[in-house]
Amino acid sequence: MEQTLLHSTEELLRHLEGIGGRIFLVCGKSAHQLAVCGEVLRRFPVTEFSDFHPNPEFESVRRGIAALRGQNCSCILAIGGGSALDVAKGIRLYAGAGEDFTAGSESVPFTGPLIAVPTTAGSGSEATRFAVLYEQGAKMSLTHEKALPDAAALLPEVLYTLPPLQRRATVLDTICHAVESAWSRRATPESRALAMAALEAVEPHYAAYCAGGNDHAAQMQQGAWLAGRAINLTTTTAGHAMAYKLTTRYGLPHGWAAAICTLEVWRWMLAQPERWQASGLEEALRMLAERLGAAEAAGGAEAFARHTEAMALPRREIPETDAAELARTVNPQRLANFPLPLTGADLEELYRNVIRHQGRREGASA
Ligand SMILES: [Fe+2]
Repeated sequence: MEQTLLHSTEELLRHLEGIGGRIFLVCGKSAHQLAVCGEVLRRFPVTEFSDFHPNPEFESVRRGIAALRGQNCSCILAIGGGSALDVAKGIRLYAGAGEDFTAGSESVPFTGPLIAVPTTAGSGSEATRFAVLYEQGAKMSLTHEKALPDAAALLPEVLYTLPPLQRRATVLDTICHAVESAWSRRATPESRALAMAALEAVEPHYAAYCAGGNDHAAQMQQGAWLAGRAINLTTTTAGHAMAYKLTTRYGLPHGWAAAICTLEVWRWMLAQPERWQASGLEEALRMLAERLGAAEAAGGAEAFARHTEAMALPRREIPETDAAELARTVNPQRLANFPLPLTGADLEELYRNVIRHQGRREGASA
């Protein structure tokens, strides 16, 4: 499905007028501070749903579906960060599934379009068919064609109030999506072109954006969307698989956790040239290295390190003795997309390096 891309509030409002009818608006409470939200509420009949929290539960989706029922809405509009988009995707997928659906139930999707207005630039969720929801604390990853929004509105002004830490973490998330997609086992010429285009969009602008330069917000959104399209084709790999627990257990921002894991995975790969050269990865690693400013594939990880260290975030205390347990928590499905086999011992060693890398960031500016 080709997604419609909208670049201004006016374009979004025209698009909604074209659909007509009542809008089911899924948004966090803070979205009300955004002009686009006010315009939608002023111009259209709206049923609003905000009854969800970060790391949203399936229960929120069930409440959303109850709120949608009988409202005769013609579309679902999600304005917000990852949680709002994930809840909206869940509502879309299970709108007709009855009361007692679970992550394993057959989806019966809402028939109208889903339109996403992301209020951060990094997750790429507006361009993916993935949603993450929780059932009694357990993470459930959904993958469904109908979770991909039919339209995405990239409105630079929604990023203007984001604080520097959040800017840095989300830019790192975009860069990691592009890197991991490029070396994924599932990479295709199309996905690699999207990943490289994402890096090309972000790289000349991220430093100014992270320093508060709002003139560079549009490039961040474009990059996040392109990298989202790339991972929609390939999914992420070892870096994200390892990063997940660093966020849930130690509170590391997702993008920073992904960046420090991806860096160590990259160093590990480059330390074994006979393996990556034999696995057909040379071209992807060379393209990534050159895109990030290194002369050859072997310099890729350190070029990436220079970019990530420029966006260093505050460190967390992580005992090195946790490495073994962390290694056991890694999702094997995600690892299967990584182009080289990783053993439990490899993962443990990688986590130890990640933790030491954290240590080296002591004193890094926030
Ligand atoms: Fe991510």
